[in-house]
Amino acid sequence: AYVVTEPCIQCKYTNCAAVCPVDAFREGPNFLVIDPLECIDCDACVSECPVEAIYPDDEVPEKWEDYIDLNERLAESWEDRIINETQDALDDADEWAAKEDKLDKLVE
Ligand code: F3S
Repeated sequence: AYVVTEPCIQCKYTNCAAVCPVDAFREGPNFLVIDPLECIDCDACVSECPVEAIYPDDEVPEKWEDYIDLNERLAESWEDRIINETQDALDDADEWAAKEDKLDKLVE
């Protein structure tokens, strides 16, 4: 399955969700995740993300490996929060896009 990682936090551009053929994206307040039980590894979302937040699970950078479990866990808690179209990115998304170590900003 594909995994959404840290760059998405506080940005949520949502371009990814509109191209998913199986509606695998789930939406939280300031982050999206991919439900690993729905993802069919089609790769369509990767190039849509302007901040390169999405990776196949076997290519997630080591510093973001925890996001594999995080996507699985949050996909369960956000299971009825399907997002399959674009919406406006969060305020200040472009500013947050350049920042690192944002995990403490994640709102569940
Ligand atoms: Fe997030 Fe990128 Fe999608 S910022 S919402 S993974 S387009």
